[in-house]
Amino acid sequence: MATIDISSLINTDDPYPLFAELRERAPVKQLEPNGWWVVSRYEDVVYAFKHPELLENGRTMTIYWSSSDERLREDSPINNKATMAFADPPAHTRIRKLLMTAFVPRAVARLEDRIRAITNEYIDQILAKDEFDLMADLAVPLPITLIAEVLGVDPSLRADFKRWSDASMVMTQGTLTDAEVDAILASRREFRAFFQDIIRDRRARPREDMISDLCQADVDGDRLTSEEVHGLAMILLTAGGQTTTHMIGNGMNALLDHPELLQEIRANPALIPSFVEESLRYEGPSKMMPRYTTQEVTIRGVTIPPDQIVIALLASANRDPAQFPDPDRFDITREQRGHLGFGYGIHFCSGAPLARMEGRIAFEELLRRIPSFSRNGKSEWLPYLGLRGLRQLPLKIDR
Ligand code: HEM
Repeated sequence: MATIDISSLINTDDPYPLFAELRERAPVKQLEPNGWWVVSRYEDVVYAFKHPELLENGRTMTIYWSSSDERLREDSPINNKATMAFADPPAHTRIRKLLMTAFVPRAVARLEDRIRAITNEYIDQILAKDEFDLMADLAVPLPITLIAEVLGVDPSLRADFKRWSDASMVMTQGTLTDAEVDAILASRREFRAFFQDIIRDRRARPREDMISDLCQADVDGDRLTSEEVHGLAMILLTAGGQTTTHMIGNGMNALLDHPELLQEIRANPALIPSFVEESLRYEGPSKMMPRYTTQEVTIRGVTIPPDQIVIALLASANRDPAQFPDPDRFDITREQRGHLGFGYGIHFCSGAPLARMEGRIAFEELLRRIPSFSRNGKSEWLPYLGLRGLRQLPLKIDR
């Protein structure tokens, strides 16, 4: 097949024809001019995730920083060695075990009422208008507010928390002025001081929140340091924010394209979990995940040298006809399971139960409280490499 470059993976409203071509004609393909590799078939993506000893995660953070400012790179709160999403065994195994003690079903279940209450606060504001943007009015603020709450942040600090977390996650593609960089660094310092205070406080006076759970986590006498608790709080914020936002946006977008399904789900909300699951397959927010080869790796007869970036195309694997018959059909009754929307293997999303619950509750409440809505203009896809999501989804309430 013709050469393809990285921008063809980024700048496209509909990446699926390209993914289908890759799967059929070049399932292990090197991109030009940067030399990254992409694997696009379900079986090969699973292989990549199953072999962390061949394809590691530790160095992948660097690819997100390609063109941002040096000072931001050095000061990155999520570059922190204590975080685990970019770590490999054995460090990853240890931190993940400790983190998972804070994600036990009881801890997730206790959030259900809060998720519903926060969702309804945003829907109250939506109902006061005739037109709304699902992204700005619900999908963007809901996950960040929830994570702030999960972490135990005082609701009166929500606006500060949003500002600080935005500054922490700047991974700009373009150039920033010195003043902009200074402002981001100052905001990060405030955020760090804020977390240090919370961690100190929860160690002394534990509450029913995740920072307290992480401070108390104990696996065979092993405990997290305060720096590790801070690193994990940052990773939860990063991993659980925009992904959940785009799960809600992409799910609604697919639902609007399938009006008969919308009616069916309205009539029978018990179908919502199957709908959320199918939308994670059909239009999942995590489009791709990078890994680094630790040695020569041969996949489907193609040999990739050591120290190469390999992009596992989750969004393509989830439309692979070898795994999901008639993959471009949105079908909430399909029997084939095992979509890769939350990844696979040792890095499988720790927050999946929470994300599924947020998705279910958001759709239950939206459909229950807004009996009829329709599109009100064009929705536009964001030009991101790793994420698939909408910039806005304008809707109007049909009264
Ligand atoms: C629909 C929403 C979400 C999607 C699509 C999603 C997707 C993913 C994917 C694909 C991975 C695997 C990364 C890899 O293989 O390198 C992952 C990892 C992770 N996710 Fe999620 N995620 C979502 C929500 C959340 C939430 C709500 C949280 C927590 C608040 C969370 C926390 C994490 C963490 C901590 C990891 C790293 C796990 C590890 O490295 O062991 N995610 N997520």
